[in-house]
Amino acid sequence: MNLPPNPFQLKKHADDILEIIVNEPITPHHKAFAVLQAMVQKFSYVIFTLTETASLHPALEPLFPEMQLLGSLLVVAADPVQTPFPLRGIKVFADVHAARTRIRNDHQIETVVGRIIKLPAFSGSVSEILRMLLNPEVTFEQIEEVTNKDLLLVSRMLKIANSSTLGNRMKIDDLKTVVKFLGIEGIRQILIQETFNTLAREFARVNDKISHMRRCSALSAHVGKLIGADLALIGKIKAAGLMHDIGALALSFHGAAEYIGIQRRVRSERLAVCEAEKDAFGFDHQEIGERLAKEMSLPAYITNAVGNHHNVDFEQHDLVSMSVMVANGFLNEQIEQVSATDYEKFMPALSEEREKNMRLHPQKKPAKPVETVDNEDGDGEEPAQDLFSSARVCALLKEELDNIIMASQSGEI
Ligand SMILES: [Fe+2]
Repeated sequence: MNLPPNPFQLKKHADDILEIIVNEPITPHHKAFAVLQAMVQKFSYVIFTLTETASLHPALEPLFPEMQLLGSLLVVAADPVQTPFPLRGIKVFADVHAARTRIRNDHQIETVVGRIIKLPAFSGSVSEILRMLLNPEVTFEQIEEVTNKDLLLVSRMLKIANSSTLGNRMKIDDLKTVVKFLGIEGIRQILIQETFNTLAREFARVNDKISHMRRCSALSAHVGKLIGADLALIGKIKAAGLMHDIGALALSFHGAAEYIGIQRRVRSERLAVCEAEKDAFGFDHQEIGERLAKEMSLPAYITNAVGNHHNVDFEQHDLVSMSVMVANGFLNEQIEQVSATDYEKFMPALSEEREKNMRLHPQKKPAKPVETVDNEDGDGEEPAQDLFSSARVCALLKEELDNIIMASQSGEI
């Protein structure tokens, strides 16, 4: 008697990896899918391998992201038609060997992040409060209690809350009011700046990268102003720009010699930095940076930018990450003269945002273009569609960068 071919097989690999090999089209009611749902919670990694006769039914689209929350899932499919919907957050590989290499690299990333997170920059009350802020139910009293143990942090918060940039007219001299005045996001952004300051001291040997991160932060914020973002969004953009390359710091910590070699190759061969990093380490600074950002309890808008600021095709780019990509791409291409990610791709979306903000708040125009840039119309008005043309925005960013450099030389920032 001829038995029907087995619709799926299970194969155990080392390192607590289970491979489920399927040979048929998979629907939400297929046995293999039920097995996948159960196994992804039991094994450290599950590889779901679609042989050439297998494919995923479109009805599975909403079910896959849920499964990724339960465990670590990787999909193997040689042909994109086998996965007819975006597998958000789930990586797809052409063969099982590539999937297993990815898992090995993940282990290495875990190990490196585990070592880095023990550095002084990631311990103490700043890190503790960042962790607390991820809890949506945290209270101001709890934040105040932990902050009070760190007198330096208290005085820094008082200073920032009373600075002119926040437009506070009344002098605040107690922590309770400061915490309420700044709010969760304001406190978080101060803590991020504090963490960065400590990192800048610890990673002084890669000062070029530290300067790049600082400049990217200021320039990203300027992009935010150009699109007419409100202060809350500009604060987020600034924080994301500041942290966007923490993965590069992590790589320099993990392999100092390889890191120098990568910088050399990026300059001499005009090689994309992520490619050079993958050659040297098997993973790039975005991957390790995103992992580190999560370990540091940074919010999603930052982990997103850290993990995807070179990924032009990433589907979930938001205004924060797009602003960082434009500022970072500009710095790479125009100033540092290394291979840059195609940041011009995001100009239409940013232009649209600016137009929208101008329509919504006609009385509050987005940041006025600097006057030294030639305006052919000569009437001081900037047509929205022109501002985010590549040459125009580059001139504006160049002007802003000069201001930033001058301010840093005079010790203002
Ligand atoms: Fe980067």
